[in-house]
Amino acid sequence: MAAISPIRPMREAKARGEFLAMISLYDAPSATLCCDAGVDCLLVGDSLGNVVLGYDDFLSVTMEDLLRHTAAVGRGAKKSSRPQVPVIADLPFSSYTSAEQAARNGAALMRAGAHGIKLEGAGPIALRAVRTLVEIGAPVVGHLGFTPQSALQFSGVVQAKTGEAAARLLREARSLEEAGCFALVLEAVPQEVARRITEALSIPTIGIGAGAGCDGQVLVWHDLAGITPGPPLRFVKRYADADALLRRAAQDFVDEVHSGAFPAEEHGWSMPEAELEGWRTRDEG
Ligand code: KIV
Repeated sequence: MAAISPIRPMREAKARGEFLAMISLYDAPSATLCCDAGVDCLLVGDSLGNVVLGYDDFLSVTMEDLLRHTAAVGRGAKKSSRPQVPVIADLPFSSYTSAEQAARNGAALMRAGAHGIKLEGAGPIALRAVRTLVEIGAPVVGHLGFTPQSALQFSGVVQAKTGEAAARLLREARSLEEAGCFALVLEAVPQEVARRITEALSIPTIGIGAGAGCDGQVLVWHDLAGITPGPPLRFVKRYADADALLRRAAQDFVDEVHSGAFPAEEHGWSMPEAELEGWRTRDEG
């Protein structure tokens, strides 16, 4: 079977003007069903920390967390009807501060089942990490705009709201393309800025809260499926209300166990009558 690489299919999709759908998720069954649904690319994002590991921030997520969940998503994708869907994995906070660390951690994620690596920012550390990963042969996705690993440095969510900041973002996007990124995630930036960057780059942009002018869109699985409770963020569209469904299921189970309605006859096994009789006789004798 040919090795899976996201680079060519995503570049060709941009050239053909086709929009790319990416979903950020963390487990095997979700990966299988999203691949079956026709997703172009899976992301094991470090949103893992908030969404399923119960952390309050993005900074607590470790390489160990990402490795385990990347492997799970990779296995799930392989079990789908479209086993060639590429899996991109995030390098978590503080896991690419030197070239050596970036290479070691990027390689570990690729060995765990990723077909590409995503990292945040376009400062000297991020650019060095991108170049290093590209040199060792890993496809790399950049991430600009609102970058959750630097959230403590931001005053609000939406980035590049001034002409000066938008010009800086475009320069950063170009520097990531030059460093070798094959795609770029743009998070929470005005749609005009995302559109301009998309037109200026030859690599595809994947937007989240960046409007319709990007080459593709990414959402977190738990957000789009409505597993995440509470009102969704502005840029999220909910395609289902799984939270309500799951709460109902949990409530019904608890109620039925408490009332004795579950399990019913069909949820268990009975011993054949002859065996039962023999057992009784033995027991009594
Ligand atoms: O961590 C994540 O899920 C992400 C996407 C939202 C782009 O970075």
